[in-house]
Amino acid sequence: MTTLVLEQYWPLPLKGGGFIFKLMHWSNLCAGGVKEMKLNNLMRAAVCSAMVVSAGSANAADQVEVLHWWTSGGEAAALNVLKGDLESKGVKWADMPVAGGGGDAAMTALRARVTSGNAPTAAQMLGFDIKDWAQIDGAVGDLNAVANKEGWDKVVPTALQDFSKHNGKWIAAPVNVHSTNWVWINKKALDATGGKAPKTWGEMIKVMDAMKANGITPLAHGGQAWQDATLFDAVVLSLGNDFYQAAMIDHDPKALGGAKMKEAFDRMAKLRSYVDDNFSGRDWNLASAMVIEGKAGMQMMGDWAKGEFLKANQKPGEDFVCIRFPGTQGSVTFNSDQFVMFDVKGSSAKKSQLSMASSVMSPKFQSAFNVVKGSVPSRTDVPNTDFDACGKKGMADLAQAGANGGLFGSMAHGHAAPAAVKGAVYDVVTAHFNGQYNSAKAVKELVSAVAAAK
Ligand code: GAL
Repeated sequence: MTTLVLEQYWPLPLKGGGFIFKLMHWSNLCAGGVKEMKLNNLMRAAVCSAMVVSAGSANAADQVEVLHWWTSGGEAAALNVLKGDLESKGVKWADMPVAGGGGDAAMTALRARVTSGNAPTAAQMLGFDIKDWAQIDGAVGDLNAVANKEGWDKVVPTALQDFSKHNGKWIAAPVNVHSTNWVWINKKALDATGGKAPKTWGEMIKVMDAMKANGITPLAHGGQAWQDATLFDAVVLSLGNDFYQAAMIDHDPKALGGAKMKEAFDRMAKLRSYVDDNFSGRDWNLASAMVIEGKAGMQMMGDWAKGEFLKANQKPGEDFVCIRFPGTQGSVTFNSDQFVMFDVKGSSAKKSQLSMASSVMSPKFQSAFNVVKGSVPSRTDVPNTDFDACGKKGMADLAQAGANGGLFGSMAHGHAAPAAVKGAVYDVVTAHFNGQYNSAKAVKELVSAVAAAK
């Protein structure tokens, strides 16, 4: 890889004006390594995209440059499975991490990269963002050669293909299926409540009250818009499949503005009362750590959280318990991380890209990767043998939900609505969660925000 010298330096402003340059590799910066500078994610994304000018790296013969937001311990462990797999095939990995759960900062960095004519080989992406990129003339690559040869059409569920293909052309390789309506509970903390894993909203409130009485934070949460929205996904789903479909997917003003939505916001306010005072801005994996360490009772989060528990050597059933958000057993809100392939130039670069796509889709890799990541395979023919109890449950729940009309794209994770609508929902949910207005006002705001964004 050709690396420009300037990439190694990071300018620090001096008090009297001017800059000094501190030695720092860009990958450290982009992975969130300069906390003391108080970079917010958007600033970091912009800086990273400007600074990462690895000459020709995206198109280098034997390597793939991959933009992603997998920077937590569990995520990095899963990514290492992919890096190792590719390296065993002689394809080098050039890492372009952009910290920030949910991927908003990564998408900002990606736009800047592509606009400056320096697209990576591949970028991690979710749902409707993929559809947006597919519309841009000449931006994305074509994986049909490998997809047809390997029969992806027959093994990838249509709910995922809907995002991976554009006008009959495979443009992305789905690496997993996550679901967002999970609760991760510290086993000791649950046992100390004397209760069983809650199945209903009422039972969950009782368990959280008991955890509070036992002196721990009942709900570990990070106050970031996408995390608030992840709770909201589950709360809306817990009020019924039809309600989730009408509100989050069809954006029916009656569902968005009705009594059930008021109840959803009331439930959000109730959940807010179980969160500790320092939740604002906390990263999701730090919230997972609170549960792992027993400082908090539970976290409501997608199954990437399981990757953190596994990384900490915890075992399902022994150290932690995984349940569906009470009232949502049988239904699943899903998202799928896909590697969107960009239109790289040169036959060697294309060859490496296809090799990466083929690796991502191999059944053996899908098992090895998803066992570590916490998600389940994106193809239906991968055996569940190597998965732990939560993984096996995840696979069974997904199949059941798919067969019974209970499978829905996650709003919080870009699979229910285009980015503008998602952003509008985020704004209202977060403002309400932070007490800026009550549930009745939130309902009204939601109706008008969604209408304006459509
Ligand atoms: C999700 C993504 C997961 C995980 C999570 C937290 O959107 O699908 O793979 O990375 O964000 O960053």
